[in-house]
Amino acid sequence: VSGSTIPILRPYTGAEEADAVRRVLESGWLGMGEVTREFERRVAALAGARNAVAVATGCAALHVALAACELGPGDEVIVPSLSFVGGVQAILAVGARPVFCEALPGSATLDVDDAARRVTPRTRAIMAVDYAGFPCALDEVAALAREHGLVVIEDGAHAFGSSYGGRPVGSIADVTAFSFDPVKSVTCGEGGALTTDDDDLAERARLCRNLGVGDDAASRQRVDRGWDYRTLVQGFRYQLSDLNAGIGLAQIDRFETFRRRKQELLSRYLARLKKTDALRPIAGDVGESFPFLCVVRVSGGKRDGVMRALAAEGISSSVHFPPNHLQPAFAAYASPLPVTERLYGELLTLPLYYGLRDDEVDRIAASVRTFVEAG
Ligand SMILES: Cc1ncc(COP(=O)(O)O)c(C=O)c1O
Repeated sequence: VSGSTIPILRPYTGAEEADAVRRVLESGWLGMGEVTREFERRVAALAGARNAVAVATGCAALHVALAACELGPGDEVIVPSLSFVGGVQAILAVGARPVFCEALPGSATLDVDDAARRVTPRTRAIMAVDYAGFPCALDEVAALAREHGLVVIEDGAHAFGSSYGGRPVGSIADVTAFSFDPVKSVTCGEGGALTTDDDDLAERARLCRNLGVGDDAASRQRVDRGWDYRTLVQGFRYQLSDLNAGIGLAQIDRFETFRRRKQELLSRYLARLKKTDALRPIAGDVGESFPFLCVVRVSGGKRDGVMRALAAEGISSSVHFPPNHLQPAFAAYASPLPVTERLYGELLTLPLYYGLRDDEVDRIAASVRTFVEAG
């Protein structure tokens, strides 16, 4: 039966976001200003961090995070190959070298033991990537980092609003990058932020997102700013606009409602997609998380067939992520990663978004089970 297609992700916006945009338009100040500053305060509070620095995208947040950690040529950054391409591009953008490590099949997050084997005298940082709304093994990452004096840069793009052992994501790593892109659980339309308790790091990040121009609060956020400015360091045009921050604030106002609904939807999936040898959901503690994706592992070489069968029923599915070490642009940094490559053939992302209905979850889960068993 093919009906209208169910997407894997869909933003949820309504009158609140439209009102927020209208208010910014009517204010006569569209760029980074007071609305962005309020957004930063709310992000910092939810992430349990002293500082939040808002930027244009999650990729910009990763780039700024690496730059603010003063990473550059000669430095190695360990990163799971199974992560979004933006993290690797950010490592290259500061001139550092990505060192790809394996992922754990159970969580699709970095294998800390494998990461430990890849530490060299040049290793300066670990990019700890959260997956599907569930944090990676942050305590183990912190222990490895302490042992070798490494910086932990968390890619929390999937995990805004989630916790780890009762601590909010954004309050644990040295610096955490978030994405508020169109399909994330909280969106700004496009947007990102980094959080950190290190005030000096936050100050370097603020400079970096503002073309290296000092005093961004006073100079860029006032209508009556002067024509003169001082450029102190290398930086980028990465500010988040008040228009985008307004959308994000309207979303954050409904944060608890959004999170509860996504927890309900994922729990409903998990109750219907019970673990078997052929089908293994990837999910941590749903109660502690703000679920982002619903991901299962389909073994026995059946994944692609299941995707095709779902598509014929009007159900979209996807794969997070094509491994970075297999990307042509990163061939110079690649070596075989057998666990990641096997996982890549098994991962299947199913529809999960605020507006998804219970009966749609039931239908998708039933189809997945049927196709996995039939496959
Ligand atoms: C793991 C991860 N990191 C970073 C990003 C980048 O975020 P953005 O799209 O806001 O640049 C994404 C986006 O999907 C992501 O999935």
